[in-house]
Amino acid sequence: MDSNQIQNIKNQAISQILDVKTEKELEELRVEYLGRKGQITNLLKEIPKIKPEKRAKFGKLLNDVKKAVEEAIENKKFEIRNSKSETEEFFDVTIPGEKPPLGHLHLITYTIREITKIFEKIGFTRVRYPEVEWDWYPFEGLNMPKNHPARDEWETFFVEGLKHPKCGVGVLTPHTSSGQLREMEAHKPPIRMLNIAKCYRRQSDASHAPMFYQFEGLVIDRGINVCHLKGILDYFVVQYFGPERKTRIRPFHFQFTEPSFEVDVTCIVCGGKGKLPNGERCKVCKEGWMELGGAGMVHPVVLKNGGIDPKKYTGFAWGWGVERLFMMKYGIDDIRLLFSGDLRFLEQF
Ligand code: FA5
Repeated sequence: MDSNQIQNIKNQAISQILDVKTEKELEELRVEYLGRKGQITNLLKEIPKIKPEKRAKFGKLLNDVKKAVEEAIENKKFEIRNSKSETEEFFDVTIPGEKPPLGHLHLITYTIREITKIFEKIGFTRVRYPEVEWDWYPFEGLNMPKNHPARDEWETFFVEGLKHPKCGVGVLTPHTSSGQLREMEAHKPPIRMLNIAKCYRRQSDASHAPMFYQFEGLVIDRGINVCHLKGILDYFVVQYFGPERKTRIRPFHFQFTEPSFEVDVTCIVCGGKGKLPNGERCKVCKEGWMELGGAGMVHPVVLKNGGIDPKKYTGFAWGWGVERLFMMKYGIDDIRLLFSGDLRFLEQF
């Protein structure tokens, strides 16, 4: 036995090991080379018979060969086991996947879209006007006297350092009525405007937020009167709350409308009766009616300020809170829930 023959056995064993596909074939090779009567084992048994001067050299060579073959077998075993788990592991494609948590539009966004759809159906166009306004649009041009409480620091957020030579100081829009004059400047009658925007006031409690949304309607044309306003209110309330709901208008006062009204809708909890089926008084409403918001016929001074002749044209307007509308529909008693981002609340809708 010379060293070349030993190297040949090693090369043959390793090339066979590299070719096998299964653990069974690998085991057969292990027995063939390293088993009790294996080729390498038999050679190792020959070592004592080798002449003493050559024994150390052959002994080392044979042990190296044995080690190399053992290593090749271990590596192959690892390779076979890993490729098994990737390609042969059973995967049932019919098992339903895990659903990722699904969100939805924010309730206010959803309500804004709902309102917009209802009014677009009858010819209104949604518009957007500046959120930071000049005093003229929400106050002066709307016929509000300088000493009106809404123009006080306590009600309105004024923007420091902003002043227009004609339109006054800068304010964060306190109501969407500021859009009335902007619309009259931009379009001549007939006008059917829907202005939905953020409004800002220094108020914060269960029914008031410092930032909230209003939706303002404005209709201007020849011969527009209170009956048209009442018709639109009835249409909207039935569309939004359902066919059982009715509206009423009560006299009120706004500087920019004459006559002015508060609009009420029949209560969703007691159905407008003011009493619950068990005879108890309904706590949600006032004798069967819930307050929706303000409305009125556009004041002639406002029409003039918007460049429209009040002798030729008349119009009406309303401005209601988006959050309050949603709260009325679902009986929610704290506006802050809508801004809290609390999933326990939001996921109920
Ligand atoms: C006005 O803002 C008038 N501009 C409405 C109007 C428009 C009258 C056109 C006539 C013609 P008022 O301040 O009442 O009115 O507000 C209207 C609605 O906005 C309220 O009924 C309420 O729904 C909502 N609102 C007012 N302040 C807040 C607030 N801080 N947080 C949430 N909603 C509010």
